Amino acid sequence: MKLSTNSVLASLNCALFIPAVNALSSRAGFEQKCAEITTKSLGIANATVWFTEFVEAGTNLTFPDNHASCGRPSSLVSKDLCRIALRVETSEDSEISLETWLPADWNKRFLSTGNGGWSGCIQYEDIEYTTSLGFATVGANNGHNGTSGAPFLNKPEVVEDFAWRSVHTGVVVGKQITTAFYDRNFTKSYYLGCSTGGRQGMKSVQSFPEDFDGVVVGAPALAFNRLNAWSAHFYLITGTPESDTFVPVNLWTTIIHDDILRQCDGLDGYEDGLIEDVTLCNYRPEALICEPAQNTSTCLTGKQAETVRKVFEPLYGENGIFIYPRMQPGSELTGAVFSSYTGHPFASEWYKYAVHNDADWDPATIGLEDYTLASKLNPGNIETFDGDLSEFQERGGKLLHYHGQEDGIITSENSPWYYNHVSRTMGLPSSELDSFYRLFRISGLAHCTGGSGASFIGQKSQANAGLEPEENVLMAAVDWVENGNAPDTILGTAVVSGTQSDSNKIGKVAFKRRHCRYPYRNVYSGKGDATDPDTWKCI
Ligand SMILES: *[C@@H]1O[C@H](CO)[C@@H](O)[C@H](O)[C@H]1NC(C)=O
Ligand SMILES: *[C@@H]1O[C@H](CO)[C@@H](O)[C@H](O)[C@H]1NC(C)=O
Ligand SMILES: *[C@@H]1O[C@H](CO)[C@@H](O)[C@H](O)[C@H]1NC(C)=O
Ligand SMILES: *[C@@H]1O[C@H](CO)[C@@H](O)[C@H](O)[C@H]1NC(C)=O
Ligand SMILES: *[C@@H]1O[C@H](CO)[C@@H](O)[C@H](O)[C@H]1NC(C)=O
Repeated sequence: MKLSTNSVLASLNCALFIPAVNALSSRAGFEQKCAEITTKSLGIANATVWFTEFVEAGTNLTFPDNHASCGRPSSLVSKDLCRIALRVETSEDSEISLETWLPADWNKRFLSTGNGGWSGCIQYEDIEYTTSLGFATVGANNGHNGTSGAPFLNKPEVVEDFAWRSVHTGVVVGKQITTAFYDRNFTKSYYLGCSTGGRQGMKSVQSFPEDFDGVVVGAPALAFNRLNAWSAHFYLITGTPESDTFVPVNLWTTIIHDDILRQCDGLDGYEDGLIEDVTLCNYRPEALICEPAQNTSTCLTGKQAETVRKVFEPLYGENGIFIYPRMQPGSELTGAVFSSYTGHPFASEWYKYAVHNDADWDPATIGLEDYTLASKLNPGNIETFDGDLSEFQERGGKLLHYHGQEDGIITSENSPWYYNHVSRTMGLPSSELDSFYRLFRISGLAHCTGGSGASFIGQKSQANAGLEPEENVLMAAVDWVENGNAPDTILGTAVVSGTQSDSNKIGKVAFKRRHCRYPYRNVYSGKGDATDPDTWKCI
């Protein structure tokens, strides 16, 4: 393990020391080469260069043209790079905005980032993270600008971009630019994304197996039409804040969370507020039903207990057909999807703008027929649930999939659900899937980042505790692809909350813990300091 670790870090650094022989060898040559990139010099079909600029390390880059709702006004750039902004026509009725950041100390690798939610937003912080590590990186706007799904309305081509074409086009164009700029081929191609970005990475593995050698996906929005049915259905369970079925947010985060821990935290052998395998938690909310004359802010009515029970049950559709796995206990701390009545904007936008194509459609009317219709239409072929990954496997691709078990937006139970679907579809047991597909269930990780446990696994720059493959999912994928070292565990870092002063520096380390690959689960050995990773075992 140690040797391989060093070789990955060495190969990351070696670009600095190889005497370059071309025009890029000097800072002036690099700047000039960057300035010389034009639409014509690239000659890529449908691609128009908007501008190029040399960005010096330490620059606070601002993005005045980025849609305000994206909330990404600036990014501190840590390495010298050439920034190329383009527009690429994807059909007569759609286009993507694409950026390619080419670092001066290139590690010879190519990488694509993804998006999140409905965006519409180039994830500059991810591009900065991976270019700072030396990857030539692309990021696109997913075919529209801003965080709303409204641009899908009567625009099937824009939906296609969102479903698959933005990432794929960005990869095809970005690879050509990378090769042209450095005047040599990249060695390997990678992907890093979470949530919608997780779905985009899975889509590439399923439908464009040539695009990447190593793919890191987190909390993927898999089975997308059904996911939106599931996200929308919580409203039907909870009702409005005035109804007697409603459970206020503060009850979820206090008494319900505490009671879940009381019933399930010890299942992994140690009570520390972290449930290592949430699939084992069959929570019984009836324990919280009020005693006579009990203060109702410390207990539940029978109706509220029913709401809690239903939130943690799978969703079934017309004729009892299984639609989506249950929300997992552990999500209640950040359960944005179900704990507050907000008109479930995420799900309703898909139904409004892509399924019904009706901006006036009322989300309160959602029902079983809508779920059936969405799955039947499958706009843009967005479902992303193909279980046959054999083309990706055959070309030697590696898929590293992780999901936080405190995710309150996309249930972490969809990840083992998909993994098992792949296992059955391909007829392969885990011992065989292990050669190209590994799933890690991360205790104490919320949706992509955050959470109460060892949630820093290098999935984002603000959740990066180090570059050793054993504790960084991106470096683990590189080590797997290039050196054949498959990750057995991912070492997560928990930081003391409130001490993280700068998003690029980690706060004081609280503890570290190794997260197991599915179907293994983490248990405490019964001896020693539980904050020491060595006191836990994958069984
Ligand atoms: C970068 O510039 C923006 C806009 O001027 C500013 O709001 C932000 O604080 C700056 N960031 C840093 C790290 O200096
Ligand atoms: C270029 O755009 C056209 C139509 O706008 C589209 O049909 C075609 O697929 C695009 N080509 C590439 C290589 O993306
Ligand atoms: C998105 O915004 C960019 C920058 O303002 C603009 O060039 C592009 O045309 C916009 N894309 C769409 C699909 O509106
Ligand atoms: C990239 O690799 C291909 C196939 O091996 C080769 O034909 C091509 O010349 C290479 N391009 C550069 C710029 O080295
Ligand atoms: C019920 O409990 C809450 C929170 O502990 C407290 O603020 C409130 O005063 C209590 N109400 C009664 C009637 O005791």
